[in-house]
Amino acid sequence: MVLLSKSKVIIFATLAVLIVLLPKCKQADKSNVNTSENTSCVKTKSLNPNGDSELALLMRQMYDSLNSMNRLIKNGGVPSKFPESFLKILKAKPTTSNTKLESFDAFADDYIATLRLLYNSPKADLNKNYNLLVQKCANCHEASCPGPLKKIYKLKLDI
Ligand code: HEC
Repeated sequence: MVLLSKSKVIIFATLAVLIVLLPKCKQADKSNVNTSENTSCVKTKSLNPNGDSELALLMRQMYDSLNSMNRLIKNGGVPSKFPESFLKILKAKPTTSNTKLESFDAFADDYIATLRLLYNSPKADLNKNYNLLVQKCANCHEASCPGPLKKIYKLKLDI
């Protein structure tokens, strides 16, 4: 009798330990999946510039260009030379073949159309069309690559 209840105690103890540990294992699995999903689109802190894709490098130039245009417009300036090199957005090689969604070209065309609109803007519409362009960046990123969204929305001008 005594022996039997001892082994029962051991079985219960083992079960109890399993019940406590199992959900923890599951949680650990989940958080691994989440972090790999978050980093699937963009590595913002690459230590090796040669390792970055043509598209990622172009995106950084597009970002820098908007950043300086933000200051230019605030200081009453007008954008001058249309950045022909940004038309490469359609052809530039992405990090991996699945970085670009099917919708990519449509979003890219929309971005280019708004870029032209901005460079042809009368001064009175500059702020509005600049913010429209920032929104076109965000539209594509909402759909495919949310990582840099916060950074992108910070480019908006207060109208
Ligand atoms: C048509 C879709 C599309 C549009 C429009 C777009 N992006 Fe991107 N962007 C991407 C994709 C896809 C990547 C990931 C590129 C890669 O990893 O090869 C990216 C990457 C980036 C990155 C991270 C680059 C890095 O350091 O790796 C930044 C910043 C960025 N975009 C900013 C912008 C800004 C600013 C605009 C507007 C001027 C813009 N994007 C417009 C699709 C788009």
